[in-house]
Amino acid sequence: MAVSRTPLIAGNWKMNLDHLQAVAFVQKLYWTLKDAAHDEESVEVAVFPPFTDIRTVQTLLDADKIPFGLGGQDLSTHDSGAYTGEVSGAFLSKLACGYVIIGHSERREYHAESDDVVAAKVQAALRHGLTPVICVGETAADLEEFGASAVPAGQLRAALAGVPADADIVVAYEPVWAIGSGQAATPDQAQDVCAKLRAVISETVGADTADRTRILYGGSVKAANIAGFMREPDVDGALVGGASLVVDEFAAIIRYQKHVGV
Ligand code: 13P
Repeated sequence: MAVSRTPLIAGNWKMNLDHLQAVAFVQKLYWTLKDAAHDEESVEVAVFPPFTDIRTVQTLLDADKIPFGLGGQDLSTHDSGAYTGEVSGAFLSKLACGYVIIGHSERREYHAESDDVVAAKVQAALRHGLTPVICVGETAADLEEFGASAVPAGQLRAALAGVPADADIVVAYEPVWAIGSGQAATPDQAQDVCAKLRAVISETVGADTADRTRILYGGSVKAANIAGFMREPDVDGALVGGASLVVDEFAAIIRYQKHVGV
């Protein structure tokens, strides 16, 4: 029998909002949700600020008892040492991060992160008690050449090498052509690929892991289209970029259950 998975709405801020803007943003988001009497238990919220904001955001979440998850946007494959500019998963854990995004297409493209590097980062995250948010997705050229699911399924298979069955992971399906383009996948397209990704988890890690792992859709998610994705059985949330930087828009995405019939 399928387990129920708590939906996760995650905001990837990318390289936006300094630590002062981050404080104002998180406070406003929290109060907007409070004013709307949002049920904290029904949907998990997580934010992924730039590294330089994390300590400040952590302090705010802690002091004001704001129930948002926190995560980094990347981490090093190494735990410590002479790796100038890198950030260890150990440091993220110390800052009470629960999550870390791994293998975002912008890292794969601009920092030449291979499937092997992504797999090593997944292991680094697990070593430090962080839940990796493993991003996979096809480019427009991949879509034309191989269809929608072959490339993301291959990326996920590689990322899951050596992941034990009891690991907590999150997968984000983010078609590269949908990121920042205003052209989201359709709910049907997202469902089709997310179901295939769940099958990959089942084959490589195990059926129980596949059953409890949350698979998110990302790419031009907005308040106006979130409900369609969330109606799909294998889409358990969203990884939101641009719209996660606008308080009212992100709050409306988090509150999709209120407009699920729209
Ligand atoms: P957009 O929501 O801006 O398309 O970005 C998606 C994304 O890359 C989240 O990681």
